[in-house]
Amino acid sequence: LPKTVKRICCIGAGYVGGPTCAVIAKQNPDIQVTVVDLSEARIAAWKSTALPIFEPDLYEIVEVARDGTDGRRPNLHFSTDIATAIDEADLIFIAVNTPTKTAGLGAGKASNLAYVESAARMIAEAATSDKIVVEKSTVPCGTADSLRTIFAALAPHLAFDILSNPEFLAEGTAINDLLNPDRILIGSLKDAKSKSAAEALAQVYNWVPRNRIVTVNIWSSELAKLAANCMLAQRISSINSLSAICEATGAEIEELAQVVGLDVRIGGRMLKASAGFGGSCFKKDVLSLVYIAESLHLEEVALHWKSVVDLNEYQKGRFARRITRALHNTLANKRIAILGWAYKKNTRDTRESAAITIAGQLIAEGAQLAIYDPLVSEKQIFDDLESACPNASSSVKVYPDASAACIDACAVVIMTEWDEFKTDYAGSPTFGGMANSSTDDHHLTSTSTSASSDSGIDMQDDPSEKSAVLPAPGIDDNPNYSTKRIDWRHIAAVVRRPRLVFDGRNVVDSDMLASLGFRVQSIGKADVF
Ligand code: UDX
Ligand code: UDX
Ligand code: ADP
Repeated sequence: LPKTVKRICCIGAGYVGGPTCAVIAKQNPDIQVTVVDLSEARIAAWKSTALPIFEPDLYEIVEVARDGTDGRRPNLHFSTDIATAIDEADLIFIAVNTPTKTAGLGAGKASNLAYVESAARMIAEAATSDKIVVEKSTVPCGTADSLRTIFAALAPHLAFDILSNPEFLAEGTAINDLLNPDRILIGSLKDAKSKSAAEALAQVYNWVPRNRIVTVNIWSSELAKLAANCMLAQRISSINSLSAICEATGAEIEELAQVVGLDVRIGGRMLKASAGFGGSCFKKDVLSLVYIAESLHLEEVALHWKSVVDLNEYQKGRFARRITRALHNTLANKRIAILGWAYKKNTRDTRESAAITIAGQLIAEGAQLAIYDPLVSEKQIFDDLESACPNASSSVKVYPDASAACIDACAVVIMTEWDEFKTDYAGSPTFGGMANSSTDDHHLTSTSTSASSDSGIDMQDDPSEKSAVLPAPGIDDNPNYSTKRIDWRHIAAVVRRPRLVFDGRNVVDSDMLASLGFRVQSIGKADVF
């Protein structure tokens, strides 16, 4: 019989560890879950009303498990006492960051496993009884072997069952993804003890239908997580490559995506053309796979995947060049409004955001940028710019609302698909009217982009659009961020002629903006004016 997990420790209180453990604790009132981190500030924030990350519905879940608002004995804890939490736990998740290495062998491509290794050493040093150790972080295929070696060397008297259980949540929809996962993946060795540990972990996911819990060998599990992210990134690069052909021929990218996506062998999701994908995972994971292939002397395989990242850089550069060209190839002292800085909507995460690269290229041409994002702080924007293009700060101002950023702008550039930038005005009859008209979750999703001419293909089924999700108290200065809309009529009055809009996310209704006097350039479509 598999042992029953009573206490869980999660090392790493970031985007993965925090939301995942909040949901596990919420769904398992009988399991005590302690999330630990080296960062005192992060742990303090998790204990407060101002959580360190913004995620729709996260605060409500944390309140239930952490504070017992449903009457339970609180079972979600946050601590910097890593050793105690490790020793008390039966099962330990490793959910630390695995960024791209910046120096040494594989610099710029390989995953940096220093944090994983340090977590493993902490486990080996603090544990006084047998443990199930679970890799949550995305790691290169073979990492479980390194863990085994570390445990064997540092704590040979104890038995560690190593499992792989990668997390597939996407930011901005993390809670829905955790509550309704496509699958839970558990990788283990073939022996009975390892399988029994896998069963104990499977029981933690008591809210997930059993047929969605997939058990495979541990190497498949490690590689499957990397492969899934790489295949998703590859779809975006593929559709983005086609957007360049569309712009040159008169074909329309959204019509293309709709038609192609209707083939069930292809499917309609992750086919939204954009000015480039961002986020902490896609580039890192594709490069990690490239490095693995190179290490195995599989040159052609490496080249195939490398092209996914190359194409993404090309797409970002292409968008920046298009803007520059429309402004007569000189941006010197021209004011350009940038709407959106987060790498996608409903997060304040900016890691690898396409906005950073594109802003850097516009600044290099001499532009003055006026930036607005509903959730990202001014400090974050300056930090991002500082690392991407030092000395950029004199060319940038950050504004508290979109219309202020647009005053006297020679061009308005949309970089994030925030609902706020859509052309369906709050209070107008179209607002929200068409939400949820989708009949097939796995196909085309019609969302509340009702006024938009787009095909109805959205990046994903987005639960935050279905319920009016309010952010946690104290964490958001802009509580109406999901229902607010900018007034494009007003923007038309404050920008410079010829009122250029560059829609890097295809969120606005170009015809509607044209009727207000704008000239709109979108991704993979003809100019509209
Ligand atoms: C293809 C398209 O499927 C079809 O929609 C189009 O109209 C014509 O081209 P076809 O070439 O007849 O059809 O067969 P398909 O089933 O797509 O297979 C093409 C090749 O890919 C075959 O050699 C098949 O064995 C191979 N294949 C297919 C794989 O190797 N793996 C797969 O998962 C699917
Ligand atoms: C991704 C995976 O989706 C998730 O399963 C994995 O666990 C972590 O990496 P995330 O990076 O949070 O999640 O967001 P995702 O929605 O996949 O978007 C990544 C980037 O691609 C964003 O910049 C997004 O705007 C862009 N994107 C996404 C597109 O340009 N087009 C699309 O169709 C979908
Ligand atoms: P992810 O997006 O993968 O969740 P994050 O960077 O958001 O990555 O979170 C990873 C967290 O792991 C950070 O808060 C970091 O401080 C923490 N961390 C890294 N190494 C250790 C360690 N050895 N012990 C405890 N926490 C760690």
